[in-house]
Amino acid sequence: MNVLVCGGAGYIGSHAVIELLEAGHNVIVFDNLEKGHRAAVAEDATLVVGDLRDPVALEGVFADHSIDAVMHFAAYSLVGESVTQPDKYYDNNVYGSYCLLQAMRKFNVNKIVFSSTAATYGEPEQVPITEEQKTVPTNPYGETKLAVEKMLGWYDRAYGLKSMCLRYFNVAGAHESGTIGEDHTPETHLIPLVLGAALGKTDCIRIFGTDYDTPDGTCIRDYIHVSDLAAAHVLALAKLCEPGAESNIYNLGYGHGFSNLEILEAARRVTGIPIRAEMADRRPGDPSILIASSDAVVRDLGFAPRYDDLDVIIQSAWAFFKAHPNGYES
Ligand code: UFG
Repeated sequence: MNVLVCGGAGYIGSHAVIELLEAGHNVIVFDNLEKGHRAAVAEDATLVVGDLRDPVALEGVFADHSIDAVMHFAAYSLVGESVTQPDKYYDNNVYGSYCLLQAMRKFNVNKIVFSSTAATYGEPEQVPITEEQKTVPTNPYGETKLAVEKMLGWYDRAYGLKSMCLRYFNVAGAHESGTIGEDHTPETHLIPLVLGAALGKTDCIRIFGTDYDTPDGTCIRDYIHVSDLAAAHVLALAKLCEPGAESNIYNLGYGHGFSNLEILEAARRVTGIPIRAEMADRRPGDPSILIASSDAVVRDLGFAPRYDDLDVIIQSAWAFFKAHPNGYES
């Protein structure tokens, strides 16, 4: 199939491109390169530089490439920034997605895998979190992703556009080749920041909050390796191509979590470096525990993780960071 990957030069999108190519698809990446990196796009994919909100550029891709299905990763994803600049998030994440769906309708493309987030749940009612739990986002980032999920639901009903919304938990690690990985500016995520401290880019890692209601007092997250996450997108696409396929929403996590201190210990173990840490105040808006129920994705899509091991995840990220201490520019 000819698969259009919007945001395919970003961290998760670039890993999905590799999985799609390995599954035998022809991949066209559409990315404005604001957050993405040209160097992250696999050589066998076609890169078109453009913005979803530019109808001429976007429709040009559909016109030129006979697209069969879409994977949509292009979005802003900084929770804190979304609180101070919600307009950016509604514009890029919601309006950008609207533009994409309109182009899909115009070119009769009716399959999309959408990159959603655990932030749609907000503070969970219970863990592990199942897909049926209430969605009450606590920030505009989660709101914009939920808005697109809902838009997709209505587009299915009205126009028969079928979607798979994948709600990611904490994505981490890097491709086993060591050639692509995480390169965000600014970086806000725990594992890259801990490894940045190991590389000496910062003096220490600050652990936000030690008084949560968890065994060691620090937050717990469900870390999923980016290549497992990417592989799940290919399974979701295959499901959408089955006759009579229905739209659906799935969590993507492993179903178990690690505390922030456990991440720090694992990073010290993997790197062999006694990474310095400082205990700091809570970061506003952080839920104490986020763990996915992964039952549905395992049952319906046959999701079978290959990298469900914290040390393997951190080792893969470490290999990428050591080879690219300044990201793709190094
Ligand atoms: N943390 C630190 N120090 C840091 C950075 C993070 O202690 O320097 C802590 C956070 O407070 C949190 C944990 O590490 O307890 C994980 O934080 P991340 O920023 O790595 O990830 P989040 O869990 O905040 O974010 C993830 C996804 C978001 C999604 C969110 C849902 O990356 O896209 O879950 O709440 F919106």
